[in-house]
Amino acid sequence: MKKLCLGIESTAHTFSVGILDFEGNIYSLINDVFIPEEGGLHPGLVREQHLNNFMKIINRALSEAKISIKEIDLIAFSQSPGLGPVLKIGAWVARMLSQLVDIPIVGVNHCIAHVEIGRLKCNIKDPLSLYVSGGNTIVSAFESERYQIFGETLDLAIGNMIDSFSRDAGLSHPGGPKIEKLALESKNYIPLPYVVKGMDLSFSGLYTSAKYLLQSKDYCKKYNLNDIAYSLQETAFGMLTEVTERALAHTEKKEVLLTGGVAANKRLQSMIEYISKEHDARFEVVPLRYAGDNGAMIGWVGILRYKAEGGHSISGTIINPKERMDQITIPWRS
Ligand code: ATP
Ligand code: FE2
Repeated sequence: MKKLCLGIESTAHTFSVGILDFEGNIYSLINDVFIPEEGGLHPGLVREQHLNNFMKIINRALSEAKISIKEIDLIAFSQSPGLGPVLKIGAWVARMLSQLVDIPIVGVNHCIAHVEIGRLKCNIKDPLSLYVSGGNTIVSAFESERYQIFGETLDLAIGNMIDSFSRDAGLSHPGGPKIEKLALESKNYIPLPYVVKGMDLSFSGLYTSAKYLLQSKDYCKKYNLNDIAYSLQETAFGMLTEVTERALAHTEKKEVLLTGGVAANKRLQSMIEYISKEHDARFEVVPLRYAGDNGAMIGWVGILRYKAEGGHSISGTIINPKERMDQITIPWRS
């Protein structure tokens, strides 16, 4: 009988359950995504949706994998980083299941999970990773026993910035795919703030300037929404590419991994692929089902940690909303 892990993702808008075996074969993955009617993510509303739906999602994942909860050998959950009230739901559900079935429990750092599922799914060994999502923008690689952060955003995350702009432009959530489509209709670049500080990025000035363009008297006269979408993408993705390339030159990694929800963007993919080729590095994009938030990636890191050092005690499963990926030991790669 293969050993099985049930992984629970609950850091932000997605409550997701993945079931996989200890070799990394995934048997089921069910997502429930909170979509705000207006504005950004309200932690209280997200928490309510997750609280209402978690048992349904777990049951659907078990039934798709054709197993009962008694056949699960390990529970993994996202312990950090994320929205406190939302992280607590996943932690609470995981503790309950672990005690109910009397099986070990492992807490997982969400950012590390994005990278590790990429290593598994793309069959890649030691990449430089660009992790771009609604809540994160991180360039990282494994060095000196840790996932070191070489560059990150100083303010807004790239996905959040694009979603906020598209909301201002009257588009529905999520804005990323809509902005990508509009950008394809333009080649008219409007200069916008390009802010790279050392190895870090800042998107707030870019966001404000793009928003002002929507309010300007020239809007719909000298330029249109397609032009702003194009300019916003070219500027933001240019910044991401610059930092990724510099980290690649510094680390001399021979693989580059693009992950997170924004990895779906074809223009970003082509820019990162270009610099990867320039540095003779293999380029991989995590398959979209596993690039966004998902319970399978949490389950996989739970398995890696459990195999290396066993499970966590219940007191070791307290959530940590601000924990960075470079604070975490990685015994399975040491
Ligand atoms: P995290 O918790 O890791 O920060 P998340 O909660 O934002 O992740 P993801 O599914 O990883 O969830 O990413 C969602 C983001 O991806 C949204 O900001 C969305 O607009 C963006 N996105 C999705 N598709 C595209 C695309 N084609 N181009 C640009 N952005 C995209
Ligand atoms: Fe994520």
